[in-house]
Amino acid sequence: MSINIIFGSDSGCTKKIALDMAKRIDGRAVNILKAEPSDFTDCSLLILACPTYGDGELQIDWEDNLALLQEANLDNKTVAIFGTGDQDIYPDSFVDAIGILYDIVIERGAKVIGFTDTAGYQFTRSLAVRDDHFVGLALDEDNQPFETDDRIASWLKQIL
Ligand SMILES: Cc1cc2nc3c(=O)[nH]c(=O)nc-3n(C[C@H](O)[C@H](O)[C@H](O)COP(=O)(O)O)c2cc1C
Repeated sequence: MSINIIFGSDSGCTKKIALDMAKRIDGRAVNILKAEPSDFTDCSLLILACPTYGDGELQIDWEDNLALLQEANLDNKTVAIFGTGDQDIYPDSFVDAIGILYDIVIERGAKVIGFTDTAGYQFTRSLAVRDDHFVGLALDEDNQPFETDDRIASWLKQIL
């Protein structure tokens, strides 16, 4: 199984998690800044990772390079998404980036796996929630850093 993790990160949190995750699952972590179109397609599992910035927006490098994803042929591709966010300061747009990426890949024909429970988080609104579940893995290193390891471990078990 070949796994590509494509990430963007301003202050390093998502990057660190993506690199750790790649080691754990023998995958390739690729910064969206350096990604090639083939990085989205030449793998059996594609993992996308993006923090939320602004008021519910994608991280800037994702924003600037979004065409790579919007133009990728993801027909029947298995995709999983994780995002970092801050539920205390941004309870109305918590991990919105997960939902933004989800809508794009669904539109491109992908099959998204790795939905997770919203229990254990406190927020009021998120684009990442559909039918009461996050459409990916939500991580909050600002407020719940001690949950991160367990959340990642059970998510990886789920998606692999
Ligand atoms: C200016 C600013 C805006 C942010 N906006 C949001 C937001 O709308 N929703 C959210 O869940 N987190 C938001 N965050 C929190 C970041 O997503 C979070 O700190 C994340 O871990 C940063 O990841 P990075 O270190 O990989 O860049 C914001 C952070 C900053 C500094």
